[in-house]
Amino acid sequence: MRIAISGSSGFVGTALRTSLVQDGHEVLRLVRRAPAGPDEVRWDPVVGDIDPAPLEGLDAAVNLAGAGVGDRRWTKAYKTELRQSRVRATTLFAQTLAGLDAPPRVFVSASAQGIYGADREDEYLDEDSTTGQDFLARMCLDWEAATAPARDADIAVCHPRFGLIMGASGGAFKRLHTLARLGILGPLAGGHQFWSHISLTDTVRALRFLIEQSGCVGAFNITAPEPVSNAEFIRVLAHAIDRPAILPAPYFGLRIVLGEYAKYVAGSLRVVPNRLVQSGFRHEHPDARSVVAAALSPNTPP
Ligand SMILES: NC(=O)c1ccc[n+]([C@@H]2O[C@H](COP(=O)([O-])OP(=O)(O)OC[C@H]3O[C@@H](n4cnc5c(N)ncnc54)[C@H](OP(=O)(O)O)[C@@H]3O)[C@@H](O)[C@H]2O)c1
Repeated sequence: MRIAISGSSGFVGTALRTSLVQDGHEVLRLVRRAPAGPDEVRWDPVVGDIDPAPLEGLDAAVNLAGAGVGDRRWTKAYKTELRQSRVRATTLFAQTLAGLDAPPRVFVSASAQGIYGADREDEYLDEDSTTGQDFLARMCLDWEAATAPARDADIAVCHPRFGLIMGASGGAFKRLHTLARLGILGPLAGGHQFWSHISLTDTVRALRFLIEQSGCVGAFNITAPEPVSNAEFIRVLAHAIDRPAILPAPYFGLRIVLGEYAKYVAGSLRVVPNRLVQSGFRHEHPDARSVVAAALSPNTPP
């Protein structure tokens, strides 16, 4: 297959690209810098610039672009960047695919569990659950809606609503692992809140499933089937590396360090991957113990 990927230098993009190339697929990267070879196409999602010609004849397109949600403090300007880097990039990608003579069959465009809001306590959240009203939820709704041009052009559009993706090379796990190794990790904001996690390996497998199975369309929660409390996830991680996990981080401390983003880290989302499982996907790492083991394993690909 020939597959275009945006955000391909990131945590998920690198792992997906590596997996596809290893299996002999051709990957075309949308890059925001000068292309380094024939497998790269420059695009500028801010000004809306892209050369569509190299995208003719793709089998699939995957959109993973967006400024890092947990990378910087959420100033007003950064919140604008978080939103625009997703909505503008997705709009440009979708419009470009829709205008091709030979468009791809499927467009898999990232979304996030934040669409359900910051805190839903112990409510099971599947793809039919109501969405939230806060900043991240509205951003995710607009991010998904920005794919409309592709859907209107009869391209099958999938929205993988990612949970907390756990892998050694980035995301939340890298930070948790560092704190756990130092012995300064413990339950966050009381610890009872659900964390809907998934291994990076299963994330890549799920993205490939959405690309490869014809008939997949719409929203798919990309999480492990068994969400656990943040205290339990942290306990499993600390136990796996034989460190204590007894230093609690109270909410006010998170708020001082993380600002507005703290309410999402401390929120409870019990997201279940109903549509993915009903479509026939089987997780390699269904629970916290196997997710942590995969993230710590030197044999797990990036
Ligand atoms: N990791 C998670 O746990 C998680 C959870 C929920 C949702 N998601 C979403 O899934 C997507 C992929 O996640 P990830 O963890 O791989 O993210 P990531 O490591 O931050 O990578 C995102 C990529 O987007 C591109 N990018 C960065 N800033 C940008 C900007 N201002 N405008 C346009 N593109 C920009 C970069 O790729 P280039 O430099 O190659 O353009 C970057 O490598 C993201 O949209 C993220 O929000 C991730």
